[in-house]
Amino acid sequence: MIVPKPVKHEPRPGAFVLDRETSLAADPALGGVAAWLRGELAPVTGGELLPGGSGTITLALGDLPPEAYRLTVGATVEIVAGGPAGAFYGAQTFRQLLPPAALRKAGGGPFEVPGAYVEDAPRFGWRGALLDVARHFMVKRDVLRFIDLLALHKLNVLHLHLTDDQGWRVEIRRYPRLTEAGSWRKESQTGWNGPMDGRPHGGYYTQDDLREIVAYAAARHVTVVPEIDLPGHTQAAIAAYPELGNLDAPLEVRTTWGVGHNVVNVEDSTIKFFQDVLDEVLELFPSPYIVLGGDECRKDQWRASPAAQRRIAELGLRDEEELQSWFIHQFDAYLTARGRRLVGWDEILEGGLAPGAVVASWRGELGAVTAARRGHDVINCSNTSLYLDYRQAPGEEEPVPFGTVLALEDVYAFEPVPADLRGEPAAARVLGAQCCLWTELIDSTRHADYMAFPRLAAFSETVWSSAERDLADFRTRLAAHLPRLAALGVEYRHEEGPLPWQTRPGVPGRPEDPERWQAKLDAWTSNLRR
Ligand code: ACM
Repeated sequence: MIVPKPVKHEPRPGAFVLDRETSLAADPALGGVAAWLRGELAPVTGGELLPGGSGTITLALGDLPPEAYRLTVGATVEIVAGGPAGAFYGAQTFRQLLPPAALRKAGGGPFEVPGAYVEDAPRFGWRGALLDVARHFMVKRDVLRFIDLLALHKLNVLHLHLTDDQGWRVEIRRYPRLTEAGSWRKESQTGWNGPMDGRPHGGYYTQDDLREIVAYAAARHVTVVPEIDLPGHTQAAIAAYPELGNLDAPLEVRTTWGVGHNVVNVEDSTIKFFQDVLDEVLELFPSPYIVLGGDECRKDQWRASPAAQRRIAELGLRDEEELQSWFIHQFDAYLTARGRRLVGWDEILEGGLAPGAVVASWRGELGAVTAARRGHDVINCSNTSLYLDYRQAPGEEEPVPFGTVLALEDVYAFEPVPADLRGEPAAARVLGAQCCLWTELIDSTRHADYMAFPRLAAFSETVWSSAERDLADFRTRLAAHLPRLAALGVEYRHEEGPLPWQTRPGVPGRPEDPERWQAKLDAWTSNLRR
């Protein structure tokens, strides 16, 4: 009854009893995992887990790939893993074998785990979730909680969308106004196109907060991949430092949703500004990957800007698409020189792309196919399967319904390797996939829970488990999994729809008709077809 489904799970005779007599023994190389597991089990065990207790949990290294493990449960528990990540996943599986009540902080027990043998390893290396903390800020403790929930599902990447038109969320010492002015907006639009709420919204993470988030994630084998979105989605930065923009008039941090017109200019001073920002970002985030956005950059201000037009002429570029490409290249070279890899949304393919760059494909799957065939590594974030801000059912009941319908079974049916790539060597370019929780219309952690769960559990199977799908089997395991989520305080969506307090009557959404949506996607990505 494990989610995501392991490679092999068989019953074995006997049972393990978790209680205050349980002990833990770990290879020294697995000390971090042992410390984490001791903490997770502490409400039941009292936290000691000293050697010599009655039932022993052993964490050992074996000849396996780093993320693989074998778990044997009988009178004792043995986890043999290729490395710390594998041991961590084995321990996560062990937690799932416990009764859900054992996951609560309330303690109690003893708890019995029936005998079992599990063999397991992930299918993909990039098992990600994007969290948009720019549109609606999420306080640090809720980000840490979200990391715990990713780790429960054996996901290993948290893509933090830290900057956008509506807020700048990362402290940069050299440019303090980014957070002083850029992290607050005076009010927000209610729903997609409703009245202003008249209430300030904001917040940011200090550098110490981010170090804590990164360390907390690392202890759970999750890499935090930061995103600084450029050159579009930058109105909050321009509000803080007007010299970054294209207009003479000052701007405020944006209060409405949708793709904006305000983008940064392409001056040398602006490139230097964001390279300075990146210097601090690189200090905070050890991730080998840094996301620089590149999505949805409207070009009208560059078309109207004599300075941008001069830049195009000087560089001998064809148009504003190539100007965006040139702009992104300045940062690609900067990151490459510092041993990191640039990740951008699939729009970065439009004007030519630096060789080492990784493409996060979101507008359907054409970007993934195009990028992989051009020799780029790809993360499949297809909005047609993995955008968790899209509504979960048709009809009027979904709270603030947005996008097309992505039901639980639609997410479960997702396959990370696009059909057009299957059988081609380029399929090996697909590093994995990522579900995305955009938060224009998600203004609380409770609503985030409703949108993310249980679809995130379905997603985890698409990146961890084999390519086979068996919806009935998944639903059976999910029925065992939902009480775990409940024990952890997750306000997931019930199959019948929102509970009364999960509804948002009167808050306008923006449901999309599937055919119109596909036509829009096709038009958007037409320049990838050339
Ligand atoms: C995106 O949804 N603009 C990546």
